[in-house]
Amino acid sequence: MLRDAHNRIINYVRLAVTDRCNLRCTYCMPENMQFLQRRELLTYEEIMAVMQPLAAAGVSKVRITGGEPFLRKDLMQLLTRLSAVFSEISITTNGVLTAPFIPQFKSLGITNINLSLDTLQRDKFKQITHRDQLPAVMHTLDNLLEHDLHVKLNMVVMGGVNTDELFDFAALTAAKPITIRFIEEMPFNGQGHAFSGQQWHYQRILDTLGSRYELQKLTDAPHSTSLNYHIPGHKGKIGVIAAYSRTFCGSCNRIRITPTGGFKTCLYGHDVLNVRDLIRSGAGSDQLMQEIQYALNSRAANGFEAEKEAKKENRHWDSMSMIGG
Ligand code: GTP
Ligand code: 5AD
Ligand code: SF4
Repeated sequence: MLRDAHNRIINYVRLAVTDRCNLRCTYCMPENMQFLQRRELLTYEEIMAVMQPLAAAGVSKVRITGGEPFLRKDLMQLLTRLSAVFSEISITTNGVLTAPFIPQFKSLGITNINLSLDTLQRDKFKQITHRDQLPAVMHTLDNLLEHDLHVKLNMVVMGGVNTDELFDFAALTAAKPITIRFIEEMPFNGQGHAFSGQQWHYQRILDTLGSRYELQKLTDAPHSTSLNYHIPGHKGKIGVIAAYSRTFCGSCNRIRITPTGGFKTCLYGHDVLNVRDLIRSGAGSDQLMQEIQYALNSRAANGFEAEKEAKKENRHWDSMSMIGG
């Protein structure tokens, strides 16, 4: 069992398989984002070389992120290999290219899909993502539900951009058995646009939703990033993620591997290790796990502490596509 410096058990890894994306969400990356060269990415062999010992050390859940995971060539091949090792595989996707792969998910044990969608209006979708792909995403959403998959819909709340749609999103839960998660915006935008800061604190999101709907608090799963609610009579649920306020750090059970093999012990921290470089210089699984344990031994207590450490290096905020969320 992997444990960190604060005796927290680590049983969840977030794996970003590519930095590339077919959208350009303003809160994530600039229009002219410079993507990585292929040789800089972990190969599937290298991914398995680190994921296998992680699984053997008790990490049971992997979430595939990016960039947009379905832009990575032969992703299903990787998912098949991972499904032999992990009991739980989840994916976070923007839904543009996802639909054709949905029928294969269940046989690989993939039952949880988080779909990023920040507006239900076609014009605004174009404004936020710089691409006209709302119909493709809605098609994916319908398709996921037809296949009985658990869907969480991620909406990044941006003051003055989509805050007029909070009720429309909440209303989706009336007929659809999905969880809508309203997320505080974070500064990981690759310097694409000015970070608006704490305009929409999670409490403001809750107060606004509460002014129209009765929100019944649900018991949250351990390590949940979201505070979850139910509106009486609705099929779905509502979640609010205090991603910038970082209220859930105390029970954090996750580590991250970036597209270039960076190992992160916190979303807000820097890469504390590079597993790609270790593997390419001949490290085997024992050495990899030893280095990972060393890194966990000095893990920051929370996102604020990790941010402070990273800031000493005077870094700019990466694009979320380089981290995986
Ligand atoms: P599950 O718990 O597996 O459903 O995943 P999740 O909700 O954590 O993952 P998802 O990829 O859907 O991310 C939703 C939002 O939570 C994104 O904005 C993530 O960047 C954010 N998030 C995920 N993990 C963390 C974390 O450790 N800290 C912070 N501050 N935000 C996080
Ligand atoms: N702030 C909050 N959430 C973000 N995401 C991407 N960039 C940001 C940001 N700056 C979300 C995406 C996706 C998840 C992995 O992270 O919407 O659903
Ligand atoms: Fe692409 Fe996701 Fe970033 Fe949007 S948030 S540009 S969908 S990687």
